[in-house]
Amino acid sequence: MSDATDRPPIKACVFDAYGTLFDVHSAVNSLAEKVGPRHAELSATWRKKQLEYTWLRSLMNRYEDFWQVTGDALDYAMDECGLSDNALHADLMHAYLSLKPFPEVKAVLTLLKRSGIPTAILTNGSPAMIDAAVNSAGLNDVIDHNLSVHELNLYKPDNRVYQLAVDALGISAQSISFQSSNAWDASGAAAFGMQVVWINRYSQPPERLPGKPVAIFDNLSGLPGLVGVC
Ligand code: LAC
Repeated sequence: MSDATDRPPIKACVFDAYGTLFDVHSAVNSLAEKVGPRHAELSATWRKKQLEYTWLRSLMNRYEDFWQVTGDALDYAMDECGLSDNALHADLMHAYLSLKPFPEVKAVLTLLKRSGIPTAILTNGSPAMIDAAVNSAGLNDVIDHNLSVHELNLYKPDNRVYQLAVDALGISAQSISFQSSNAWDASGAAAFGMQVVWINRYSQPPERLPGKPVAIFDNLSGLPGLVGVC
């Protein structure tokens, strides 16, 4: 990790959405009784397959939007858990549109916004999905830009995705603080040149990949202090 004095000042904060601002497991948790005893396994497999399908589709040059990929991943996860229930599938997908934000999210975004730091989401999520999640969490007023991979037809961690934020904000990658709980996404953004804060919510070991974070926090609360807003 570099010394703070070596780093350009932060001009904007960009956030990954799923897992970073929004708790992806809150969809299954909200329907845990209906899902039954394998609910935790279902949620973990759903998320794992959802990400794998993004990487694989990008490599295969066979993009489908994140809503489709999320539905396909849920199909797989339900199959693996021995669940065959179209109504439950529909309910779980619907719950994905109103995922719970993590507890500190709104206060941190509000503080950044009040301090004049532009904020953006940069996500694999399709525009409709991310608009729904932001709306449902009441974050409209504290997010300046919702940036989706959808216009590129490919997924993170392709460099062209991180370039979207540079282009939208009109500032250099080095003056962007990018926050992600997904270590592989943190790695991609750091390798691209952003200053990255890895939000290690689940105490995971670091990935053995290029690109190092400037800081590692277990939630977003330390971010305002790091970027000089208190
Ligand atoms: C996103 C996924 C990676 O929001 O969580 O882009």
